[in-house]
Amino acid sequence: MNTKPSILVARAVFPETIAFLQQHFDVAHNQADEIWSRPDLIARLQGKAGVLATGSERIDAELLAACPDLKLAANMAVGFNNFDLAAMTARGVLGTNTPDVLTETTADFGFALLMATARRITESEHFLRAGQWNKWAIDMFAGAEVHGSTLGILGMGRIGQGIARRGAHGFGMNVVYHNRSRLTPALEAECKARYVAKDELLQTADHLVLVLPYSAQSHHAIGAAELARMKPTATLVNIARGGIVDDVALAKALRDKRIAAAGLDVYEGEPKVHPDLLACSNVVLTPHIASATVPTRRAMAQLAADNLVGFLVNGQPLTPLNPEVLKKK
Ligand code: DGY
Repeated sequence: MNTKPSILVARAVFPETIAFLQQHFDVAHNQADEIWSRPDLIARLQGKAGVLATGSERIDAELLAACPDLKLAANMAVGFNNFDLAAMTARGVLGTNTPDVLTETTADFGFALLMATARRITESEHFLRAGQWNKWAIDMFAGAEVHGSTLGILGMGRIGQGIARRGAHGFGMNVVYHNRSRLTPALEAECKARYVAKDELLQTADHLVLVLPYSAQSHHAIGAAELARMKPTATLVNIARGGIVDDVALAKALRDKRIAAAGLDVYEGEPKVHPDLLACSNVVLTPHIASATVPTRRAMAQLAADNLVGFLVNGQPLTPLNPEVLKKK
């Protein structure tokens, strides 16, 4: 008789992750990486004690009511705005995420996007590939200075601190930040970062990087009013979540040259990208790949798998989001 708990891996992962999980579970998976409708996902979750999810699977009250056997949703992401954590806690369902293992890789990407945006790298590549480069010109793709400029960071968690350290120590940038809570003096010194009010951040940043979690409170944290406070020469980089920026307002600000440029890895309603953004040349667009290096994606998959084994087999998850569920057991 098979006594292993049953789990679902909702999206394709590395084969070794499936092999590891099979040692402990009866595993249903999606190695073909099909896009399942919500009723499909719910049907496949019947009888499953755990799910290895990604940001694409919404785990909310409706799904939980339809999947009464579910005990754990292990997100393969540090962000967990796809989880209704209150509904999960109310039903005694644990959520886990994958912090730390992606911090430095994501900070690298944030910096890469900042550089590409400020120095107009993709825009100039498109120009070259289109065969339009026929002479040198003094102002050809002249962008914004990065070294020695003011780097603004909205959201100063682990990834924000990684970006601050890169800017301050690598590029001699003057780093200012705004966050719900201030860093300790020791961390501020390590990041060479100065805490400022949000308004000062908007007004002083030459490059503003968004690294805050998405929530009802951070919805449209950057909209028309905030964009109007920024310098006309400023660049905006969003590696956090779609919905933190009002994409329509941003496209208008880019079109009107209200700000100089933007670099975006995340979008409202992704994987769809607003056509107004696609029409702007002064925006660098990437498809939510900030944590995408092979070693980091392996580490994220392993941590999600370790959470499944940790909780469902040993009763001890590694990175619980709602540990109050554990106390109730
Ligand atoms: C995360 O981990 O939250 C990244 O956005 C990858 O989805």
